[in-house]
Amino acid sequence: MPEIMANTNHGKYPILIRTGALAQLGEVAGKTVRSRKAFVVTDSIVEGLYLEAAKKSLEGAGFEVASYTVASGESSKCEKNLFDIYGAMHDFGMTRTDLVIALGGGVVGDLTGFAAATYMRGCPLIQVPTTLLAQVDSSIGGKTGIDMPFGKNLVGAFYQPKAVVIDPGLLKSLSRTRMAEGMAEVIKYGCIRDAMLFEAIEKGQADMEWMLQCCVRIKTTVVQNDEFDTGERMLLNFGHTFGHAIEKVSGYTKFTHGEAVAIGMVKAAEMGEKCGVTPAGTKDRILGVLNKWHLPTTTDLPMEDLYQTMLSDKKKLNGKVYFVMLKEIGDAKACPLSEQELRDLL
Ligand SMILES: NC(=O)c1ccc[n+]([C@@H]2O[C@H](COP(=O)([O-])OP(=O)(O)OC[C@H]3O[C@@H](n4cnc5c(N)ncnc54)[C@H](O)[C@@H]3O)[C@@H](O)[C@H]2O)c1
Ligand SMILES: [Zn+2]
Repeated sequence: MPEIMANTNHGKYPILIRTGALAQLGEVAGKTVRSRKAFVVTDSIVEGLYLEAAKKSLEGAGFEVASYTVASGESSKCEKNLFDIYGAMHDFGMTRTDLVIALGGGVVGDLTGFAAATYMRGCPLIQVPTTLLAQVDSSIGGKTGIDMPFGKNLVGAFYQPKAVVIDPGLLKSLSRTRMAEGMAEVIKYGCIRDAMLFEAIEKGQADMEWMLQCCVRIKTTVVQNDEFDTGERMLLNFGHTFGHAIEKVSGYTKFTHGEAVAIGMVKAAEMGEKCGVTPAGTKDRILGVLNKWHLPTTTDLPMEDLYQTMLSDKKKLNGKVYFVMLKEIGDAKACPLSEQELRDLL
């Protein structure tokens, strides 16, 4: 299996996607840095599942390894953990040439990535994502950060890893709900960029390793063209404008991110069909694949609240809200809508 190379303004890095890739972490790390000191951050669930294997691989390649475990869950993406990680790095005698490894889902990836970006002004980082969402989304693209008491992801940095090691075998231990959550993002990639991927999911014929390759290729290409999120990267927000509003209005408790995005994609397809951008029947196809994964497709939250939240959240350019719609399955564009147009379409 060839590696995918991500090209960024800060150099190239390999993304290895292979079942069993965790066992090759040491080899990848050995090629990435000269130092033989590695600091692994993980969470309390992933620790019991995969930390031993990660350590064994690193030690096999001659690394001295220390690890730090945060509690599983979003609340770990906080300032307290960040500072405790800095402290543990210092105690381990880390210098800026030593390696930091994020072993976990998006929470560990974002937190550890930010620690690596800032400790001694930046240490080399390898992402080892262990959830489907992290494998197709958060580990690629260089966004790192923590949540603040006044909002999610409000402090962070763009910081590219030196390598990403994706092992689809690690997904076997994920719950069905977590798998479905990641599948919402996979379906999103199919919708915006890859009709073949979408059709394979539709037919139930998609192999996980192949799907990961498709998604990672799309994300790296889009990010490559728009590393600092000022243009094309917006297309990755398909289903997310409405999805984020759902998460916010329901207080981040009723739906997972992927579930909210699933509902958002249906809404975006419906709106696209209404205004003639999206061919009729597209919404039904999206509904079909979401149903296969038992993802929700509607919400009874008050539409007025969702509308107001979207307006206050969206960056408005020339008084217009940019809303991603499908020209067809596999092709998307950001459509400028006035406030009135948005209200009418909703
Ligand atoms: N940086 C980005 O570009 C980006 C993009 C999307 C999302 N995110 C962030 O990612 C986070 C969500 O990521 P997530 O959904 O991976 O959440 P997560 O990291 O909390 O993982 C979800 C749950 O799965 C558990 N887990 C992880 N791997 C497992 C495995 N292999 N088997 C069994 N259980 C496992 C975790 O302990 C946790 O309980 C959010 O904080 C979000 O803001 C970042
Ligand atoms: Zn998302």
